[in-house]
Amino acid sequence: RPLLDPVPPLPALHASLGFSIFALLGTLYLVPALGSTFVCAGLKGRDLLKVSDDPIPESLGLVCASLYILLLILFTPFAFSDVFTHHIEESVRKPREGLVVSEFPHYQLSVYLSSLLSLLIATMLGFLDDVFDIRWRHKLPIPIIASIPLLMVYYSERGNTDVVVPIPLRWLFGSLLNLGPLYYVYMSLLSTFCTNSINILAGINGSEVSQALVIALSVILNDLLYLPWPIGFRIALPLHLLGRPAEVDVGGVWHAGMAYGSRVLVERHLFSLYFMLPLVGVCAGFMYHNRYPARVFPGDTLCYVTGMAFAVVGIQAHFSKTLLLFFLPQIFNFVLSCPQLFGLVPCPRHRVPRFEAETALLHPSRAEFKDRLPSHLATIVLRIFSWFGFVELAEDPHTKTIMSTTNLTILNVFLLRFGPMREDSLVRVLICSQVAGSMLAFVVRYGLAGLLYDG
Ligand code: UD1
Ligand code: MG
Repeated sequence: RPLLDPVPPLPALHASLGFSIFALLGTLYLVPALGSTFVCAGLKGRDLLKVSDDPIPESLGLVCASLYILLLILFTPFAFSDVFTHHIEESVRKPREGLVVSEFPHYQLSVYLSSLLSLLIATMLGFLDDVFDIRWRHKLPIPIIASIPLLMVYYSERGNTDVVVPIPLRWLFGSLLNLGPLYYVYMSLLSTFCTNSINILAGINGSEVSQALVIALSVILNDLLYLPWPIGFRIALPLHLLGRPAEVDVGGVWHAGMAYGSRVLVERHLFSLYFMLPLVGVCAGFMYHNRYPARVFPGDTLCYVTGMAFAVVGIQAHFSKTLLLFFLPQIFNFVLSCPQLFGLVPCPRHRVPRFEAETALLHPSRAEFKDRLPSHLATIVLRIFSWFGFVELAEDPHTKTIMSTTNLTILNVFLLRFGPMREDSLVRVLICSQVAGSMLAFVVRYGLAGLLYDG
């Protein structure tokens, strides 16, 4: 490992904050400025939940993704600014020896560059999907391929493939279970899940970008817990009271001699912050234009690039399980959607709620069993969902065969449980559920985990 100054590279964090402000201002300005260019290029869509037929510029996520990736590329030297400072100090101290290149943290550079590569592939895939409407069976494996550079870098550091077994299961598996190659399968599936799960929880103004924003803020909050804060500040952060996994004795100042394990943790979470802060910038800027009533649409590009950014930090900074906890609404929506995604229940092109023009309210939309009757398995699954109150079924009064069901999405579940509502209210409910999910995630990760795991 390179022996760098163990004081966290604060200047890089300040630069990252500056880049994020630039990301915010850039998106605020560029998205409306480029909207008409997108319409001219045929990238436009109709707002399905409005009366008006005006074309709305679509795929503006491409502007966000391009700005985000360009800023991350520009930020590369800043991420290694402590190395430059160290080299300059060394060359002043020992002018005869020249630049000590062997001490450059090549591993961290490969982490950074492979992450950029994955983000670029996600952007390309998202944009191709916007233009060509790629089929599900074709677009599912692409993020898996995009994750190979990440997995290689993970492997090159002899990445951990052990999982700590919860105390009640230890009699069966022991305290550590090595998943080996299965762990890599899990991580590549994580990238496909993160990229697609935001895209299938979409269709109402602001939904895609607000999910990304809340998840990014949650990841940032989690990262901040691992930085060696001065004691006074640490106590001011209430989450620290829940107990912190990487306890570092900071003694009231930025710590100057951290243990190796803690230092690696700090580096990983700094890396995550470098990727999440500008993401918050672009998402906040885009949300301003995409909020109800939307003046632009994100397209699949935004869903894919934000999803891949989360997969990248989850894998590279080694907190994929905590990351998944921030995806609770998406996991619920995915599990609920499975019968439609895998062909058990008919899946219309759009599963967005149904808009009633007279009242301007949204109602649950339906999928009809038109050409074929539901299979035995589909009937069982739908009846279970109906028992939980997740769907509303329409049956043939004589044969009791299911004729139609409400579409299997979390948005329709909200409309079923809380009644018809306006589009802006529904997106607020979605944001609240995402925030509540993140709060639960923190309680599970830092509160309840102590009951299942020791230490
Ligand atoms: C996914 C969903 C689909 C949903 C669509 C909406 C699955 C399997 N697919 O498909 O059910 O209808 O997203 O994004 O769950 N739109 C609006 N208002 C918005 C955002 C989008 O009306 O706030 C409409 C516009 O017509 C826009 C279109 O959705 O053109 C974009 O759909 P697209 O992203 O191509 O759909 P998919 O991602 O394939
Ligand atoms: Mg989409």
